[in-house]
Amino acid sequence: MNIAVTGIQWGDEGKGKIVDWLAGASDVVVRFQGGSNAGHTLVVGGAAYKLSLVPSGILHPGKLNVIGGGTVLDPPAFLDEIDALTRQGIEVTPGNLAIAANVPLLLSVHRELDTIREESAGRGKIGTTLRGIGPAYEDKVGRRAIRLDDLGDHGGLVRRVDNLLQHHNALRRGMGAAHLDSARICDELLGVAPRLVEFAKPTWKLLHERRAKGDRLLFEGAQGAMLDVDHGTYPFVTSSSTVAGAAAAGAGISPRGIGHILGVCKAYATRVGAGPFPTELFDENGRHLAVRGHEKGTVTGRSRRCGWFDAVLVRQMCVIAGIDSLALTKIDILDGMPEIRICAGYELDGTRIDHMPAGAAEQERLQPVWESWPGWEGRTAGCRDAGELPSGAVKYIRRIEELTGVKVDILSTSPERDDTVVFSDPLCGR
Ligand code: GDP
Ligand code: IMO
Ligand code: MG
Repeated sequence: MNIAVTGIQWGDEGKGKIVDWLAGASDVVVRFQGGSNAGHTLVVGGAAYKLSLVPSGILHPGKLNVIGGGTVLDPPAFLDEIDALTRQGIEVTPGNLAIAANVPLLLSVHRELDTIREESAGRGKIGTTLRGIGPAYEDKVGRRAIRLDDLGDHGGLVRRVDNLLQHHNALRRGMGAAHLDSARICDELLGVAPRLVEFAKPTWKLLHERRAKGDRLLFEGAQGAMLDVDHGTYPFVTSSSTVAGAAAAGAGISPRGIGHILGVCKAYATRVGAGPFPTELFDENGRHLAVRGHEKGTVTGRSRRCGWFDAVLVRQMCVIAGIDSLALTKIDILDGMPEIRICAGYELDGTRIDHMPAGAAEQERLQPVWESWPGWEGRTAGCRDAGELPSGAVKYIRRIEELTGVKVDILSTSPERDDTVVFSDPLCGR
Protein backbone atom coordinates (compact mmCIF):
# COMPACT_ATOMS: atom_id res chain seq x y z
CA MET A 1 0.00 0.00 0.00
CA ASN A 2 1.43 3.39 -0.99
CA ILE A 3 0.58 6.24 1.38
CA ALA A 4 0.46 10.00 0.93
CA VAL A 5 0.95 11.97 4.14
CA THR A 6 -0.27 15.55 4.14
CA GLY A 7 -0.79 18.26 6.74
CA ILE A 8 -4.39 19.38 7.16
CA GLN A 9 -3.95 22.51 9.28
CA TRP A 10 -1.52 25.40 8.66
CA GLY A 11 1.67 23.32 8.52
CA ASP A 12 3.97 22.14 11.32
CA GLU A 13 1.54 19.40 12.32
CA GLY A 14 4.40 16.96 12.90
CA LYS A 15 4.43 15.46 9.38
CA GLY A 16 8.18 14.88 9.56
CA LYS A 17 7.88 12.73 12.68
CA ILE A 18 5.04 10.67 11.16
CA VAL A 19 6.80 10.23 7.79
CA ASP A 20 10.02 9.19 9.54
CA TRP A 21 8.05 6.66 11.57
CA LEU A 22 6.24 5.26 8.49
CA ALA A 23 9.47 5.27 6.46
CA GLY A 24 10.75 2.33 8.50
CA ALA A 25 8.22 0.12 6.70
CA SER A 26 8.47 1.85 3.30
CA ASP A 27 11.01 1.65 0.47
CA VAL A 28 10.86 5.08 -1.15
CA VAL A 29 9.99 8.49 0.36
CA VAL A 30 8.99 11.22 -2.08
CA ARG A 31 8.61 15.00 -1.66
CA PHE A 32 6.22 16.36 -4.30
CA GLN A 33 5.63 20.09 -3.60
CA GLY A 34 6.96 23.06 -1.65
CA GLY A 35 10.61 23.76 -1.02
CA SER A 36 12.84 25.15 1.67
CA ASN A 37 9.86 26.90 3.29
CA ALA A 38 9.25 23.50 4.92
CA GLY A 39 10.94 22.70 8.22
CA HIS A 40 10.57 19.27 9.79
CA THR A 41 12.13 18.18 13.08
CA LEU A 42 12.77 14.46 13.58
CA VAL A 43 13.90 13.12 16.94
CA VAL A 44 15.48 9.69 17.21
CA GLY A 45 17.14 8.46 20.39
CA GLY A 46 17.22 12.01 21.76
CA ALA A 47 19.05 13.42 18.70
CA ALA A 48 17.17 16.06 16.66
CA TYR A 49 17.50 16.31 12.89
CA LYS A 50 16.17 19.33 10.98
CA LEU A 51 15.01 18.71 7.44
CA SER A 52 13.68 21.10 4.87
CA LEU A 53 14.07 19.83 1.30
CA VAL A 54 15.45 16.39 2.03
CA PRO A 55 12.65 13.80 2.46
CA SER A 56 12.04 12.50 5.98
CA GLY A 57 13.07 8.97 5.03
CA ILE A 58 16.74 9.94 5.01
CA LEU A 59 17.48 8.70 8.55
CA HIS A 60 16.66 5.11 7.55
CA PRO A 61 19.52 3.33 5.80
CA GLY A 62 18.66 1.57 2.57
CA LYS A 63 15.67 3.72 1.60
CA LEU A 64 15.49 5.77 -1.58
CA ASN A 65 14.52 9.42 -1.10
CA VAL A 66 13.17 11.42 -4.02
CA ILE A 67 12.69 15.15 -4.49
CA GLY A 68 10.01 15.34 -7.16
CA GLY A 69 9.62 17.85 -9.98
CA GLY A 70 6.63 19.50 -8.28
CA THR A 71 8.94 21.05 -5.68
CA VAL A 72 11.18 24.10 -6.14
CA LEU A 73 14.83 23.44 -5.28
CA ASP A 74 17.06 26.09 -3.73
CA PRO A 75 20.59 24.77 -4.50
CA PRO A 76 22.58 26.44 -1.65
CA ALA A 77 19.84 25.61 0.87
CA PHE A 78 19.84 21.98 -0.31
CA LEU A 79 23.65 21.68 -0.19
CA ASP A 80 23.79 23.27 3.29
CA GLU A 81 21.15 20.81 4.45
CA ILE A 82 23.03 17.76 3.23
CA ASP A 83 26.27 19.11 4.75
CA ALA A 84 24.52 19.54 8.13
CA LEU A 85 23.16 15.98 7.90
CA THR A 86 26.63 14.66 7.03
CA ARG A 87 28.01 16.38 10.15
CA GLN A 88 25.37 14.47 12.13
CA GLY A 89 26.54 11.20 10.60
CA ILE A 90 23.77 10.88 7.97
CA GLU A 91 25.21 10.31 4.52
CA VAL A 92 23.25 11.84 1.65
CA THR A 93 24.51 10.57 -1.70
CA PRO A 94 23.08 9.85 -5.15
CA GLY A 95 22.72 6.31 -3.79
CA ASN A 96 19.97 7.30 -1.33
CA LEU A 97 18.64 10.54 -2.81
CA ALA A 98 17.47 11.38 -6.33
CA ILE A 99 16.23 14.75 -7.56
CA ALA A 100 13.88 15.06 -10.53
CA ALA A 101 15.84 16.40 -13.51
CA ASN A 102 12.86 18.64 -14.33
CA VAL A 103 12.76 20.37 -10.93
CA PRO A 104 12.65 24.20 -11.19
CA LEU A 105 15.51 25.92 -9.36
CA LEU A 106 14.89 28.61 -6.79
CA LEU A 107 17.48 31.37 -7.27
CA SER A 108 18.75 34.33 -5.23
CA VAL A 109 16.58 36.58 -7.40
CA HIS A 110 13.50 34.79 -6.01
CA ARG A 111 14.59 35.18 -2.40
CA GLU A 112 15.28 38.89 -2.98
CA LEU A 113 11.91 39.44 -4.64
CA ASP A 114 10.07 37.68 -1.79
CA THR A 115 11.81 40.00 0.71
CA ILE A 116 11.27 43.18 -1.31
CA ARG A 117 7.55 42.40 -1.67
CA GLU A 118 7.04 41.53 1.98
CA GLU A 119 8.95 44.62 3.14
CA SER A 120 6.85 46.91 0.98
CA ALA A 121 3.49 45.20 1.66
CA GLY A 122 2.71 46.96 4.95
CA ARG A 123 -0.51 45.58 6.39
CA GLY A 124 -0.98 43.30 3.36
CA LYS A 125 2.09 41.29 4.35
CA ILE A 126 1.59 37.52 4.08
CA GLY A 127 4.34 36.69 6.52
CA THR A 128 6.09 34.32 4.11
CA THR A 129 9.18 32.38 5.12
CA LEU A 130 11.15 34.75 2.80
CA ARG A 131 12.59 31.69 1.06
CA GLY A 132 11.51 32.88 -2.41
CA ILE A 133 8.84 30.21 -2.82
CA GLY A 134 6.13 32.39 -4.41
CA PRO A 135 8.43 34.00 -7.00
CA ALA A 136 10.00 30.61 -7.90
CA TYR A 137 6.57 29.06 -8.57
CA GLU A 138 5.55 32.15 -10.56
CA ASP A 139 8.54 31.64 -12.86
CA LYS A 140 7.73 27.95 -13.25
CA VAL A 141 4.15 28.69 -14.30
CA GLY A 142 5.41 31.61 -16.41
CA ARG A 143 7.57 29.07 -18.31
CA ARG A 144 10.83 30.90 -17.72
CA ALA A 145 12.24 28.86 -14.82
CA ILE A 146 15.75 27.41 -14.88
CA ARG A 147 15.46 23.68 -14.23
CA LEU A 148 18.04 21.27 -12.84
CA ASP A 149 18.52 19.70 -16.23
CA ASP A 150 19.49 23.09 -17.73
CA LEU A 151 22.73 23.07 -15.71
CA GLY A 152 24.30 20.56 -18.10
CA ASP A 153 23.93 22.78 -21.19
CA HIS A 154 26.06 25.90 -20.80
CA GLY A 155 24.95 27.76 -23.95
CA GLY A 156 21.29 27.02 -23.31
CA LEU A 157 21.66 28.06 -19.65
CA VAL A 158 22.99 31.51 -20.59
CA ARG A 159 20.03 32.06 -22.94
CA ARG A 160 17.55 30.91 -20.32
CA VAL A 161 19.07 33.16 -17.65
CA ASP A 162 18.94 36.14 -20.05
CA ASN A 163 15.27 35.40 -20.69
CA LEU A 164 14.53 35.11 -16.96
CA LEU A 165 16.30 38.35 -16.13
CA GLN A 166 14.47 40.27 -18.85
CA HIS A 167 11.34 39.63 -16.80
CA HIS A 168 12.92 40.20 -13.39
CA ASN A 169 14.84 43.35 -14.32
CA ALA A 170 11.63 44.96 -15.60
CA LEU A 171 9.95 44.10 -12.28
CA ARG A 172 12.96 45.26 -10.26
CA ARG A 173 13.10 48.62 -12.11
CA GLY A 174 9.50 49.23 -11.07
CA MET A 175 10.35 48.48 -7.45
CA GLY A 176 13.53 50.55 -7.40
CA ALA A 177 15.77 47.47 -7.00
CA ALA A 178 19.19 47.19 -8.65
CA HIS A 179 19.57 45.76 -12.17
CA LEU A 180 20.80 42.16 -12.15
CA ASP A 181 23.54 40.98 -14.41
CA SER A 182 23.05 37.57 -16.01
CA ALA A 183 26.71 36.69 -15.36
CA ARG A 184 25.98 36.84 -11.61
CA ILE A 185 23.14 34.35 -11.86
CA CYS A 186 25.07 32.08 -14.26
CA ASP A 187 28.06 32.06 -11.85
CA GLU A 188 25.72 31.25 -8.97
CA LEU A 189 24.35 28.28 -10.90
CA LEU A 190 27.64 27.04 -12.32
CA GLY A 191 29.16 27.17 -8.82
CA VAL A 192 26.66 24.61 -7.49
CA ALA A 193 26.21 22.57 -10.69
CA PRO A 194 28.97 19.96 -10.12
CA ARG A 195 27.54 18.85 -6.74
CA LEU A 196 23.93 19.09 -7.84
CA VAL A 197 23.84 17.36 -11.22
CA GLU A 198 24.97 14.03 -9.78
CA PHE A 199 21.60 13.78 -8.00
CA ALA A 200 19.57 14.52 -11.18
CA LYS A 201 17.52 11.53 -12.40
CA PRO A 202 14.36 10.82 -14.39
CA THR A 203 12.63 10.19 -11.07
CA TRP A 204 9.26 9.45 -12.72
CA LYS A 205 10.98 6.41 -14.26
CA LEU A 206 12.59 5.33 -10.99
CA LEU A 207 9.22 5.55 -9.24
CA HIS A 208 7.50 3.65 -12.02
CA GLU A 209 10.10 0.85 -11.77
CA ARG A 210 9.91 0.72 -7.97
CA ARG A 211 6.13 0.63 -8.10
CA ALA A 212 6.15 -2.16 -10.69
CA LYS A 213 8.50 -4.13 -8.42
CA GLY A 214 5.99 -3.89 -5.57
CA ASP A 215 8.03 -1.46 -3.46
CA ARG A 216 6.13 0.69 -0.96
CA LEU A 217 6.12 4.38 -1.81
CA LEU A 218 5.50 7.05 0.81
CA PHE A 219 4.61 10.54 -0.41
CA GLU A 220 5.54 13.33 1.98
CA GLY A 221 3.54 16.54 1.84
CA ALA A 222 4.90 19.85 3.09
CA GLN A 223 2.85 22.73 4.58
CA GLY A 224 -0.83 21.94 5.15
CA ALA A 225 -4.22 22.00 3.43
CA MET A 226 -5.15 25.36 4.95
CA LEU A 227 -2.07 26.81 3.22
CA ASP A 228 -3.08 25.26 -0.12
CA VAL A 229 -3.04 27.79 -2.94
CA ASP A 230 -6.57 26.83 -4.05
CA HIS A 231 -8.33 25.66 -0.91
CA GLY A 232 -6.51 27.48 1.89
CA THR A 233 -7.10 30.85 3.52
CA TYR A 234 -6.17 32.71 0.32
CA PRO A 235 -4.19 34.96 -0.13
CA PHE A 236 -2.52 33.95 3.15
CA VAL A 237 -1.32 30.67 1.70
CA THR A 238 1.78 29.20 0.12
CA SER A 239 2.21 28.99 -3.66
CA SER A 240 1.78 25.26 -4.21
CA SER A 241 -0.98 22.71 -4.01
CA THR A 242 -0.46 20.99 -0.68
CA VAL A 243 -3.19 18.36 -0.86
CA ALA A 244 -2.61 14.70 -1.71
CA GLY A 245 -3.97 15.27 -5.23
CA ALA A 246 -0.71 17.08 -5.89
CA ALA A 247 1.36 14.01 -5.00
CA ALA A 248 0.75 12.20 -8.27
CA ALA A 249 1.37 15.26 -10.45
CA GLY A 250 4.37 16.47 -8.44
CA ALA A 251 6.03 13.07 -8.34
CA GLY A 252 5.04 11.91 -11.82
CA ILE A 253 3.00 8.80 -11.04
CA SER A 254 -0.57 7.67 -11.56
CA PRO A 255 -3.09 8.92 -8.97
CA ARG A 256 -4.01 5.23 -8.73
CA GLY A 257 -0.54 4.66 -7.29
CA ILE A 258 -1.69 6.19 -4.01
CA GLY A 259 -3.66 3.75 -1.89
CA HIS A 260 -4.19 5.66 1.33
CA ILE A 261 -4.14 9.33 2.33
CA LEU A 262 -3.09 10.03 5.89
CA GLY A 263 -3.85 13.51 7.22
CA VAL A 264 -1.61 14.80 10.00
CA CYS A 265 -3.09 17.22 12.50
CA LYS A 266 -2.16 18.56 15.90
CA ALA A 267 -4.47 18.06 18.86
CA TYR A 268 -4.73 21.89 18.90
CA ALA A 269 -3.97 24.45 16.19
CA THR A 270 -1.04 26.67 15.22
CA ARG A 271 -0.25 29.06 12.43
CA VAL A 272 2.89 31.05 11.46
CA GLY A 273 2.52 34.25 9.47
CA ALA A 274 -0.56 36.36 8.84
CA GLY A 275 -4.11 35.34 7.95
CA PRO A 276 -7.41 34.23 9.49
CA PHE A 277 -7.27 31.87 12.48
CA PRO A 278 -10.75 31.61 14.05
CA THR A 279 -9.70 29.62 17.13
CA GLU A 280 -6.61 31.70 17.94
CA LEU A 281 -6.01 32.25 21.66
CA PHE A 282 -4.64 35.46 23.12
CA ASP A 283 -4.84 34.35 26.76
CA GLU A 284 -2.93 32.24 29.23
CA ASN A 285 -4.05 29.02 27.46
CA GLY A 286 -2.50 30.25 24.20
CA ARG A 287 0.75 31.11 25.96
CA HIS A 288 0.71 27.71 27.68
CA LEU A 289 0.35 25.87 24.34
CA ALA A 290 3.14 27.98 22.80
CA VAL A 291 5.59 27.38 25.63
CA ARG A 292 4.77 23.75 26.36
CA GLY A 293 4.55 22.90 22.64
CA HIS A 294 7.80 24.76 21.79
CA GLU A 295 5.82 26.52 19.10
CA LYS A 296 8.63 28.31 17.29
CA GLY A 297 9.10 27.95 13.52
CA THR A 298 11.88 25.57 12.44
CA VAL A 299 12.70 27.62 9.33
CA THR A 300 12.40 31.21 10.51
CA GLY A 301 12.40 30.96 14.32
CA ARG A 302 9.15 32.98 14.41
CA SER A 303 6.65 32.32 17.20
CA ARG A 304 3.69 30.27 16.05
CA ARG A 305 0.22 31.58 16.87
CA CYS A 306 -1.69 29.00 18.95
CA GLY A 307 -5.37 28.12 19.35
CA TRP A 308 -7.86 25.35 20.11
CA PHE A 309 -8.60 22.48 17.71
CA ASP A 310 -10.82 23.66 14.87
CA ALA A 311 -12.97 20.67 13.91
CA VAL A 312 -14.82 22.64 11.23
CA LEU A 313 -11.68 23.39 9.29
CA VAL A 314 -10.19 19.95 9.78
CA ARG A 315 -13.45 18.33 8.56
CA GLN A 316 -13.51 20.63 5.53
CA MET A 317 -9.88 19.91 4.69
CA CYS A 318 -10.37 16.14 5.17
CA VAL A 319 -13.09 16.26 2.52
CA ILE A 320 -11.10 18.43 0.12
CA ALA A 321 -7.86 16.52 0.55
CA GLY A 322 -9.55 13.09 0.54
CA ILE A 323 -8.18 12.09 3.92
CA ASP A 324 -8.71 8.38 4.71
CA SER A 325 -7.44 8.49 8.28
CA LEU A 326 -5.67 10.81 10.69
CA ALA A 327 -2.39 10.92 12.57
CA LEU A 328 -3.05 13.09 15.63
CA THR A 329 0.08 14.67 17.12
CA LYS A 330 1.10 16.60 20.23
CA ILE A 331 -1.74 15.36 22.40
CA ASP A 332 0.79 15.34 25.25
CA ILE A 333 0.84 19.15 25.17
CA LEU A 334 -2.76 19.10 26.45
CA ASP A 335 -1.87 16.89 29.45
CA GLY A 336 -2.74 18.66 32.70
CA MET A 337 -4.85 21.46 31.17
CA PRO A 338 -8.00 21.91 33.30
CA GLU A 339 -10.26 22.69 30.31
CA ILE A 340 -9.87 21.88 26.63
CA ARG A 341 -12.00 23.40 23.91
CA ILE A 342 -12.95 22.28 20.42
CA CYS A 343 -14.49 24.53 17.78
CA ALA A 344 -17.52 22.58 16.56
CA GLY A 345 -19.11 25.22 14.32
CA TYR A 346 -18.93 28.89 13.35
CA GLU A 347 -21.19 31.89 13.61
CA LEU A 348 -20.98 34.41 10.82
CA ASP A 349 -22.82 37.68 11.52
CA GLY A 350 -25.11 35.83 13.93
CA THR A 351 -25.87 32.85 11.66
CA ARG A 352 -24.54 29.37 12.39
CA ILE A 353 -22.52 27.88 9.53
CA ASP A 354 -20.73 24.56 9.17
CA HIS A 355 -17.83 25.48 6.88
CA MET A 356 -15.26 28.17 6.22
CA PRO A 357 -16.40 30.54 3.47
CA ALA A 358 -13.96 31.39 0.65
CA GLY A 359 -13.75 35.15 1.18
CA ALA A 360 -10.95 36.56 3.37
CA ALA A 361 -13.23 39.25 4.86
CA GLU A 362 -15.86 36.67 5.93
CA GLN A 363 -13.14 34.40 7.28
CA GLU A 364 -11.95 37.22 9.56
CA ARG A 365 -15.49 37.67 10.99
CA LEU A 366 -16.03 34.01 11.95
CA GLN A 367 -16.82 33.36 15.61
CA PRO A 368 -16.16 29.83 16.91
CA VAL A 369 -18.95 27.84 18.55
CA TRP A 370 -17.17 26.03 21.36
CA GLU A 371 -17.49 22.66 23.00
CA SER A 372 -15.82 22.53 26.37
CA TRP A 373 -14.13 19.35 27.62
CA PRO A 374 -12.65 18.69 31.04
CA GLY A 375 -8.94 17.97 30.92
CA TRP A 376 -7.77 14.46 31.84
CA GLU A 377 -5.87 13.10 34.75
CA GLY A 378 -2.71 11.20 33.95
CA ARG A 379 -0.33 11.61 31.06
CA THR A 380 -0.37 10.77 27.39
CA ALA A 381 3.26 11.94 27.10
CA GLY A 382 5.51 9.10 26.02
CA CYS A 383 2.65 6.54 25.71
CA ARG A 384 3.29 3.81 23.16
CA ASP A 385 0.28 1.61 23.77
CA ALA A 386 -3.42 2.50 23.53
CA GLY A 387 -4.02 0.79 26.88
CA GLU A 388 -1.77 3.33 28.65
CA LEU A 389 -3.82 6.36 27.57
CA PRO A 390 -5.94 8.23 30.14
CA SER A 391 -9.65 7.64 29.46
CA GLY A 392 -10.28 11.41 29.19
CA ALA A 393 -7.73 11.62 26.37
CA VAL A 394 -9.38 8.70 24.57
CA LYS A 395 -12.76 10.51 24.82
CA TYR A 396 -11.18 13.66 23.33
CA ILE A 397 -9.79 11.61 20.41
CA ARG A 398 -13.18 9.92 19.84
CA ARG A 399 -14.90 13.33 19.78
CA ILE A 400 -12.40 14.59 17.19
CA GLU A 401 -13.20 11.53 15.08
CA GLU A 402 -16.95 12.19 15.38
CA LEU A 403 -16.67 15.84 14.49
CA THR A 404 -14.27 15.38 11.58
CA GLY A 405 -15.78 12.16 10.28
CA VAL A 406 -12.34 10.51 10.04
CA LYS A 407 -10.72 7.84 12.22
CA VAL A 408 -7.47 8.44 14.08
CA ASP A 409 -5.07 5.64 13.07
CA ILE A 410 -1.93 7.00 14.71
CA LEU A 411 -1.37 9.07 17.84
CA SER A 412 1.92 10.81 18.51
CA THR A 413 2.75 11.39 22.17
CA SER A 414 6.19 13.08 22.01
CA PRO A 415 8.74 14.22 19.39
CA GLU A 416 10.60 10.91 19.74
CA ARG A 417 10.10 8.47 16.82
CA ASP A 418 8.85 5.54 18.90
CA ASP A 419 6.53 7.50 21.22
CA THR A 420 3.71 6.61 18.89
CA VAL A 421 0.46 4.74 19.50
CA VAL A 422 -1.02 2.75 16.63
CA PHE A 423 -4.78 2.27 16.74
CA SER A 424 -4.77 0.81 13.23
CA ASP A 425 -1.75 0.61 10.90
CA PRO A 426 -2.52 2.43 7.63
CA LEU A 427 0.25 0.42 5.94
CA CYS A 428 -1.71 -2.76 6.45
CA GLY A 429 -4.63 -1.64 4.32
CA ARG A 430 -8.13 -2.39 5.54
P1 GDP B 1 6.19 19.43 10.28
O1 GDP B 1 6.63 20.63 9.54
O2 GDP B 1 4.76 19.08 10.05
O3 GDP B 1 7.09 18.24 10.07
O4 GDP B 1 6.28 19.79 11.84
P2 GDP B 1 7.50 20.55 12.56
O5 GDP B 1 8.64 19.61 12.68
O6 GDP B 1 7.75 21.88 11.93
O7 GDP B 1 6.83 20.87 13.96
C1 GDP B 1 6.39 19.86 14.81
C2 GDP B 1 7.22 19.93 16.11
O8 GDP B 1 6.58 19.16 17.10
C3 GDP B 1 8.62 19.35 15.97
O9 GDP B 1 9.49 20.04 16.82
C4 GDP B 1 8.45 17.90 16.40
O10 GDP B 1 9.64 17.35 16.95
C5 GDP B 1 7.41 18.06 17.48
N1 GDP B 1 6.49 16.93 17.63
C6 GDP B 1 6.00 16.09 16.69
N2 GDP B 1 5.10 15.24 17.25
C7 GDP B 1 5.05 15.55 18.56
C8 GDP B 1 4.27 15.06 19.65
O11 GDP B 1 3.45 14.16 19.52
N3 GDP B 1 4.47 15.67 20.86
C9 GDP B 1 5.35 16.68 21.05
N4 GDP B 1 5.48 17.21 22.24
N5 GDP B 1 6.07 17.18 20.02
C10 GDP B 1 5.92 16.63 18.80
P1 IMO C 1 6.01 22.77 7.00
O1 IMO C 1 6.29 21.83 5.86
C1 IMO C 1 4.09 26.35 8.51
C2 IMO C 1 3.51 29.63 5.66
C3 IMO C 1 4.28 30.90 5.94
C4 IMO C 1 3.31 31.92 5.37
C5 IMO C 1 2.75 31.21 4.14
C6 IMO C 1 3.44 31.57 2.82
O2 IMO C 1 7.12 22.89 7.95
O3 IMO C 1 4.70 22.44 7.63
P2 IMO C 1 5.78 30.88 1.77
O4 IMO C 1 7.19 31.10 2.27
O5 IMO C 1 5.45 29.45 1.54
O6 IMO C 1 5.45 31.74 0.59
O7 IMO C 1 4.84 31.42 2.98
O8 IMO C 1 2.92 29.83 4.39
N1 IMO C 1 4.34 28.41 5.57
C7 IMO C 1 4.40 27.47 6.54
N2 IMO C 1 3.85 27.46 7.78
N3 IMO C 1 4.79 25.29 8.06
C8 IMO C 1 5.32 25.29 6.82
O9 IMO C 1 5.91 24.20 6.29
C9 IMO C 1 5.16 26.43 6.01
N4 IMO C 1 5.58 26.77 4.77
C10 IMO C 1 5.05 27.96 4.52
O10 IMO C 1 4.51 31.08 7.32
O11 IMO C 1 2.24 32.11 6.27
MG1 MG D 1 7.39 22.54 9.94
